[in-house]
Amino acid sequence: MEAVPEKLEHDLEEAADFLRDYLERGGVARVITHHDADGLSAGAIVHSAITREGYPCHTRCVKQLEDKVIAELAAEKPEMVIFTDFGSGQVDLIQKHLKDTRVIILDHHQPKEVDVEIEFNINAHNYGIDGAREISGSGMAYFFARTFSGEAAIKELSALAIVGAVGDLQDNSGAFHGLNRLIIKEGEREGVLRVEKDLRLFGRQTRPLYKAIEYTTEPFIPGLSGSESASLQFLSELDIPVKRNDRFVMLADLTQEERQRLTTALILKMIEHRVPPRIAESIVGEVVTLLKEEKRTPLRDAKEFATLLNACGKHEHYGIGLAVCLGERGELYRRSLGMLREHREYLSTCYGWITQNLDRIRDEGAVYALHAGEEIDENVIGTVAGMVLNSRILGEVKPIIAFADAEDGEVKVSARGNRELVDSGLNLGKAMLYASELVKGEGGGHDIAAGAKIPKGREEEFLKHVEEKIREQLEHGGSE
Ligand code: C5P
Ligand code: C5P
Ligand code: ZN
Repeated sequence: MEAVPEKLEHDLEEAADFLRDYLERGGVARVITHHDADGLSAGAIVHSAITREGYPCHTRCVKQLEDKVIAELAAEKPEMVIFTDFGSGQVDLIQKHLKDTRVIILDHHQPKEVDVEIEFNINAHNYGIDGAREISGSGMAYFFARTFSGEAAIKELSALAIVGAVGDLQDNSGAFHGLNRLIIKEGEREGVLRVEKDLRLFGRQTRPLYKAIEYTTEPFIPGLSGSESASLQFLSELDIPVKRNDRFVMLADLTQEERQRLTTALILKMIEHRVPPRIAESIVGEVVTLLKEEKRTPLRDAKEFATLLNACGKHEHYGIGLAVCLGERGELYRRSLGMLREHREYLSTCYGWITQNLDRIRDEGAVYALHAGEEIDENVIGTVAGMVLNSRILGEVKPIIAFADAEDGEVKVSARGNRELVDSGLNLGKAMLYASELVKGEGGGHDIAAGAKIPKGREEEFLKHVEEKIREQLEHGGSE
C-alpha cells in the first residue's frame, strides 16, 4: 500500500508546526488557491482544518498565480500566505515580491527549477511523486491538514481531496494511483466515500441515461458526447428504453444484461472512431460515491461534484464553490446547480462552434494550433482543447495548443496532450515554460496539460518555439 514518503511527512510537520505557532501568536491565516475544482477543494480543505480549531482564516481564489497577482498581494503586506494548487511554478516571483512574508506552498505542478529560498515549497514532484497522476493539489492539502489536525479530525475531508483529483482528471485511466489510493482507503475506512467499478458516465446519480451519455466527455465518445439525438438513437438501437413506467431510466436502473450490452456497444463505438482500445476501455473504471451527500444530487458523485466546482470557479463565482465545499447546502448550493447547468451548456456550445469552424485549427507540424480569439472564454479554453483532442475529429493525434483572448488584453494559452504522447516524451509544462519565457509571458503546468499567458501579438512566435520544443521532446523520447 502506498504510504506518504518520510521526507514529505517530515516537511509537512515542519510547515504545520510553523502554522500552529503563527496562529497561536494571534496571526490570521491567508490561503490563496486556484479557481478550478482542484484548487477550490484544496483551499477549502486547508481553510476547514484551520477554522475548525477556532483560528481565523481568509481564503481567496485566483485564475492563475501571475506576477501581477503576487504583486497585488504583496502590496497588502501579509505576514504569512499559504498557496495551494500552485506556487511551485512561480517561486521566483514569490521570492521577488514577498520577501518579508512567510510562505507555505502545497502544490503538484512541475516545479520551476530555479535557485530560491522558500522555506516550505512542498511539491509532490520533489518527493518522487507524479503530480499529474498520483496526487492533486487537494491531495497535498489533505495530507497537510491531516498533519496539522490529525487524521481523526479531518476524516471527512478525504472526500474533497478525491473530488479535486477527479477534477484534474487523475482518474482518467479508469483507476486511481499512488497517494490518491491512500486517500481513498482512508475515506472508505471513515465511511465518507465508496469506490466501485462502473460505467464512468457523467451524472450517474442524477441524469436520465441518454443525458448521462450525452454529457460524458471524459472519455470522449465520438458521435455521442454532446449530442442528445445521437444518444437517444443509440439507446433505441440497443433496445434499451428511455423510460420505464413513466420514469426516465438511469444507469442504476439497468439490468446486468442491459448494462453489459451498453458497455460493449460504447467501447465498440469509440474503437470505430479510432479511439485507442486502452482509452475506450476506460469507460469502465473506478467511480466514487460520496456517502455523506444526499442521494440523487450532483454532489453524491465525485465527477459531477468536480464539474459543479469548475462551473462556479471558472465563471468567477468561486465564493459559491468554496461555500459548497465547506458544507453550504442552502441558497448558494441552489445557485451552484444553475451554474452547473449553464457551464455544461456553454461547453457544449463551444464544442459545437469548433466542429463548425474546423478551419480555425491549423496543423503546425508537431502540434495543432487552435485560435479561438473571443469565441471561447479563456477559462474554459483548456477544457475545450481537451475535448477536441479526445474527440478524434482531427486527422492525427498531436498535442493541441489553444489560444483565447484574455480579459486583461493578453492571450491565454492552454495546451493538452494524452498519455500516449507523454509516454513518447511530451512534456507540455516544460514547453510552455520555455516558450513563454522567450516572449515575456508566464507558463507552466503538468506534462499532459499546461498553460501560459503571453502578450498579444506574439502568438506566432510563441507557437514556433513551442512547436520546436515539442518536436525535440518527441524525437528524443523525453530527455528534453
Ligand atoms: O491547475 P491544475 O493542476 O488544477 O489543472 C490540471 C488540468 O489538467 C485540468 O484542467 C485537467 O483537466 C487537465 N488534465 C488533462 N488530462 C489529464 C490530466 C489533467 O487534461 N490526463
Ligand atoms: O488553464 P489550463 O486549464 O489550460 O491550465 C492547464 C494547467 O497548466 C493547469 O494545471 C494550470 O495550473 C497550469 N498553468 C500554469 N501556468 C499558467 C497557466 C496554466 O501552470 N500560466
Ligand atoms: Zn491541480
